[in-house]
Amino acid sequence: MSGDVDDRCQAAAPQPLPTSDRGYMKEALGGEGEANSSPGRRNWTAGLGDETRGLLDQDAKYFLHQSLSTPCLDVLESATGSTIADIEGRQIFDFHGNSAHQVGYGHPQVVQAIKAELDRLPFSPRRYTNRAAVELARRLGDLAPMRPAKVLMAPSGAAAISIALKLARCATGRYKTVSMWESFHGANLDTISIGGDPMFRRDAGPLLAGSEHVPPLRLANRFFGEGVHGYERLADYIDYILEVEGDVAAVVAEPIRWTTVDVPPVAFWRQVRASCDRHGVLLIFDEIPSCLGRTGSMFACEQLGAEPDILVIGKGLGGGVFPIAVTMARADLDVAGAAALGHYTYEKSPLGAAAALAVLEIIEDEGLLARARAVGAATLRHLRHLASSSPIFTSARGIGMYWGLEVDDLGGRRAAEVADALLYASLQRGVSFKIGGGNVTTLCPPLNIPEEELSRALEAFAAAAAEVASEQGQLPN
Ligand SMILES: Cc1ncc(COP(=O)(O)O)c(C=O)c1O
Repeated sequence: MSGDVDDRCQAAAPQPLPTSDRGYMKEALGGEGEANSSPGRRNWTAGLGDETRGLLDQDAKYFLHQSLSTPCLDVLESATGSTIADIEGRQIFDFHGNSAHQVGYGHPQVVQAIKAELDRLPFSPRRYTNRAAVELARRLGDLAPMRPAKVLMAPSGAAAISIALKLARCATGRYKTVSMWESFHGANLDTISIGGDPMFRRDAGPLLAGSEHVPPLRLANRFFGEGVHGYERLADYIDYILEVEGDVAAVVAEPIRWTTVDVPPVAFWRQVRASCDRHGVLLIFDEIPSCLGRTGSMFACEQLGAEPDILVIGKGLGGGVFPIAVTMARADLDVAGAAALGHYTYEKSPLGAAAALAVLEIIEDEGLLARARAVGAATLRHLRHLASSSPIFTSARGIGMYWGLEVDDLGGRRAAEVADALLYASLQRGVSFKIGGGNVTTLCPPLNIPEEELSRALEAFAAAAAEVASEQGQLPN
């Protein structure tokens, strides 16, 4: 019987996209993260101990398999500050952290706030509110770039994006959206409709009608011309769609394409903002990973020349402990009182709100915005030097404490394979990171990581890069 199931799954398994020699497709194949079936992964797994492999086998037995997660990489025992530890005692600097660990793992203020709330009010059933939720709504409403703002809370980023989409429909009476190919806004059917990552959309069936797409930021220069000019013309193209359609509800985008660290020039979003205003279209920014100090400002859009009408945040808001996301909207968009925009069971979670309030306090107390700017700039200089002196990388870029190093083809190997080899060489040295878009190694440490730990992790990363470079032509088959 189980054989039948396996066979059926096998038959239904998505086929790889056809290989293409067009560079813009080659890199897109990598999507949101690294594959969990590469030769590097197999070698890594073979080097794990019996107990770990036993648990990984059980995980693979009991969880539905999906790309990017099960089968899993390793089994964790603990997490603290910038470090995760596996059950065999490996200490790993976590420069991935799902972009949810701005304040580090297990920050005492976050843990204390959650414990206190847990003892007092573990849950807030619908129809009730609670002090922590109200205080969080007030604080975020004050912090939002489009003050005054009102908020709704949700148990995941994808759910908060869904709220934003519904609110945009209610507020405009329209349903169409314009978003970017290769973007990611969550794994639900509505969010993959506006998202543009092929890995999530492939074989998903019919998606939300009216979800229109434009090329991603990283291809502005390829499709529309060099330098700032390419971005201007991409913005013109968006304006053209808003004009010819005439009934678009919202432009929805990550202001910075997170997974591939693509930061547009300030003029780009300013131009799109003006187009939205001209055509009565709402601008929705998805800042789920880029919010709360990561880029050196509370919200990335504060540095990018445009205020959204709706801003969605999540991930680090729960302190790397509690799943909570928030949709923040201009207060005058509070027009859907008769609709059910969210209605999530854990909507006004006092625990999530307590965690989020502690995170906001820590960002202020520890001066994390200024730190992200200072440490971010110094580290980017260091990484640019590394990129220019290593045959593995073509370039380094970043904003605040988030950096991306683009990996090159090397010794007859495709960039994605080289990036994969770098990941496992790096893990062997105790540093974890995420590969975005197939060939961008993204480094995302806690904003309060001690300097000494940051230096050690970057040294280990550089040593891993040197090892992979020296193995040209001898990467795992
Ligand atoms: C830009 C962006 N939007 C939305 C999401 C979805 O958030 P969640 O996983 O909390 O649903 C993510 C998660 O990685 C993200 O990076």
